[in-house]
Amino acid sequence: MPETTVFELIGISKSYRNGRKERPVLTDITFNISQGDSLALVGESGSGKTTLAQILCGLTEPSSGSIAFKGEQPNLAKAVRGEVQLILQDPKDSFDPRWSIGRSILEPLIQNHTKEEGEKVLLEGLQQVGLPFEIHSRFPRQLSGGQLQRASIARALVTNPEVVVADEPLTSLDLISKAQIVELLYYNVVAKGSTLVLVSHDLGAVRSLTKHIAVLWKGRLVEYGDTDKVFEDPTHHYTKRLLKASLLGPQS
Ligand SMILES: Nc1ncnc2c1ncn2[C@@H]1O[C@H](COP(=O)(O)OP(=O)(O)OP(=O)(O)O)[C@@H](O)[C@H]1O
Ligand SMILES: [Mg+2]
Repeated sequence: MPETTVFELIGISKSYRNGRKERPVLTDITFNISQGDSLALVGESGSGKTTLAQILCGLTEPSSGSIAFKGEQPNLAKAVRGEVQLILQDPKDSFDPRWSIGRSILEPLIQNHTKEEGEKVLLEGLQQVGLPFEIHSRFPRQLSGGQLQRASIARALVTNPEVVVADEPLTSLDLISKAQIVELLYYNVVAKGSTLVLVSHDLGAVRSLTKHIAVLWKGRLVEYGDTDKVFEDPTHHYTKRLLKASLLGPQS
């Protein structure tokens, strides 16, 4: 079966203006993401991972180059709406502190639903991420970091997104919560055939969740390939350094 391309990025560059100077953050990024793929975006702090994740979600416009979502190029923001969901590093940032968890989870479902339909969506959504239904009436401050991150994943999943972009979803969690979130992303996104883009410093999670890996270094794509192959035989000096430091890659 031919692979369907979800995202096609050609020569994407992004720079920010700092006074009179343009500072490049991403330079000439070209790659595709196929439907059902799981792609890790790795790179040191400031290498442009979040900027690229935001471009995929239609939240930031590239300065040049083109990006198409399922063949649609103009108005990416409109094309990806509802179909691409972003999960943030700190789940506190994705919940309004004045809203109950239930209200926040239902909010992206813009279509009108009855109270009963809403409850059904909530029940299923919370169940999917292993949270008890009672949590829907609590407020963000009444949940632990791990519970809140699960709720933010439920919020992304209830819309049945085609693509989930998770920007360092594990960073603010303890080891057990991390393992649970990795499992959740596996069963609810990867195993279901949806597309996952995972920004993470956690190379263990990258290895267990993703088929492909893209390595950014100073805003450039310096390595792209099968995750297993790159872990076994990295080519760029930054990737080699990264893997050595993590003790997961080749030790020589
Ligand atoms: N809105 C903005 N205005 C100006 N500069 C920005 C803006 N957003 C990001 N940058 C700069 O772009 C560069 C890349 O930032 P980005 O957040 O994409 O990196 P990152 O790889 O996600 O880093 P981290 O691992 O720390 O999250 C950084 O130097 C950052 O300061
Ligand atoms: Mg970032």
